[in-house]
Amino acid sequence: MLHENLVLRALKGQKTERTPIWFMRQAGRYLPEYRALRQKHSFDALLADPELATEITLQPVRRFGLDAAIVFADIMTILAGLGVPYHFRNGGPSLEFRANDKAFAEHFNTQRMQDHESCYLPLVETLRAVRAALSPQHAVIGFAAAPFTLLSYLVENTTAKSHNAVRALLYAEPEKFHSYMQKITDCTIFYLKLQCRAGADAVQLFESWGEIVPEKIYAEHVLPYVRQIAAAISPQVPFIFYDKGASLHLPVLEPFAQETGTVLSLDWRVSLSKLPISVQGNLDPAYLESSPAAVRRECLRILNERNGFAHVFNLGHGISPEAKLECVEAMVETVKSFRAP
Ligand code: CP3
Repeated sequence: MLHENLVLRALKGQKTERTPIWFMRQAGRYLPEYRALRQKHSFDALLADPELATEITLQPVRRFGLDAAIVFADIMTILAGLGVPYHFRNGGPSLEFRANDKAFAEHFNTQRMQDHESCYLPLVETLRAVRAALSPQHAVIGFAAAPFTLLSYLVENTTAKSHNAVRALLYAEPEKFHSYMQKITDCTIFYLKLQCRAGADAVQLFESWGEIVPEKIYAEHVLPYVRQIAAAISPQVPFIFYDKGASLHLPVLEPFAQETGTVLSLDWRVSLSKLPISVQGNLDPAYLESSPAAVRRECLRILNERNGFAHVFNLGHGISPEAKLECVEAMVETVKSFRAP
């Protein structure tokens, strides 16, 4: 019964008998079994093959006994059905896209996505296979980039150092910025609904570049689009919003979460203790490069602070390729054996 799923119960605001755990970027390069597959196949080839993508999705769940699987894909995967060519080079995405009105009108429309829905078949089949492979006690998580983070990539075309171009666009041509954000938002809703139909029990939006704008600008120009996505998705499945800039934006994020039922996934610079909403997070990923003893201490501090209330344990940002397996094991073991008083 889905009701017994600890992740979904915590996401829905309940106190659970133990705190469930999964972590961002859990399927990836810190894992020897992922690296072994990666030696034989390119990243793009792994994404295109549902059997391999399913295997990679399940690898961390099996190894560590995690409570959720996040589907092996990328925040760029949405571009497949939009006809925006992209590939991965030197550790980051590289896009072939000219951010202008014509390109946005042509590529970012949901009709085009519908016409090219077969481009998402590998993702859909992976989600179906993962859902079928796991017990109902495991949650399957789908995801997408938040519109602002994707727009940043679309104007920079790569993993930029400064992220100034997207802010420059907002300051110089706010109408253009908003028209692009709206188009991305519509496509993101289509893309997330597709993942829900394929078997995602919850979805997460990654605002990986949230920290580049201050609270006021975030509230006025960025958050309204996340709100539209929350409104479209949360009636179907729990909606998790990860903002790497949550520590800057908390005064606006907290009321937003309360109004929309969104679960906040918080970076490691925020305290979870007093928040009267469902939360996810928020161990500093650098702990996983430290020592098992340090990891245990910090996990216990977070667990005691939150006391089992509507909490899905996670990292404050994605795990790094340098993470040590013994530290990951210490984290999972500490979280799974903790019982709130
Ligand atoms: O969480 C998971 O395990 C699911 C898979 C997943 C990947 N990317 C696979 C991946 C998820 C959720 C993502 C999200 C993602 N992708 C984000 C948001 C999360 C964050 O860290 O803030 C971003 C910004 C990207 C864009 C991206 N993709 C970058 C910058 C890179 C290269 C550097 C890096 O972080 O790994 C990728 C490539 C990528 N995406 C890899 C994996 C496993 C590595 C590919 C390889 O094997 O070379």
